[in-house]
Amino acid sequence: MLSPSESTLYRRFIQNHYDGLPGALTAVTGLVTGHEALAGRLIRPGGFDVRGCKRILDAGCGNGRYSRFLLRSADADALLTSFDLSPHMLLRARARLRSARVSHAVADLTRLPYADASFDAVVCGWVLEHLPDPRPGLRELARVLQKGGKLLLLSTEDTLTGVLCSRLWHCRTYNRTELRQVCGACGLHWEREMWFSAIHRLLKLGGIIVELRRAE
Ligand SMILES: C[S@@+](CC[C@H](N)C(=O)[O-])C[C@H]1O[C@@H](n2cnc3c(N)ncnc32)[C@H](O)[C@@H]1O
Repeated sequence: MLSPSESTLYRRFIQNHYDGLPGALTAVTGLVTGHEALAGRLIRPGGFDVRGCKRILDAGCGNGRYSRFLLRSADADALLTSFDLSPHMLLRARARLRSARVSHAVADLTRLPYADASFDAVVCGWVLEHLPDPRPGLRELARVLQKGGKLLLLSTEDTLTGVLCSRLWHCRTYNRTELRQVCGACGLHWEREMWFSAIHRLLKLGGIIVELRRAE
């Protein structure tokens, strides 16, 4: 567990990092790496299916890449809550998604301002690798998910490409087997692994992408 001063330093680092140039560049890198379009391959019927979910959370929404597809796939009466630790990333997300169905908040994944079981679906994309210890974040995701609710978790893996990305973005990587165990210990059942495409699956590229379910 981090001491209070370590937590403050961590939060300050993330805010400065993403409020600044690296955060502004996410729009460009998303296009260059194809991640902008690839996100849409995951959030769809047959993929991470949010039809029937009425309260959806985009945890660490960044510039709103996943929020955009969540809004597109969800029922017309579903509400989306998007939060991020970086106020500038939220401004970018807001500028992108002008919808009365989305609310934005500055919040920390490790201490969420939402009641237990507030959501029936959550997406947490490329955020967990910024936490020194994944457990506080995973416990919070499990807490705010209703029992049986679904979570799409995306995280940088300890492969060669993952390690290179982690250097660029100043984050850590996860070992797939270890992360699966930690998720289980936090009340999140690892249901199925997903890949952006058959090529990604074949070459084991694209990171850890998994659909989990909150234990009943
Ligand atoms: C690589 S970006 C991913 C953004 C978005 N989920 C996507 O996939 O495009 C990581 C985001 O996580 C946010 N973040 C990092 N640590 C966080 C925390 N503890 N709580 C909330 N957001 C956090 C950063 O501010 C940044 O916007």
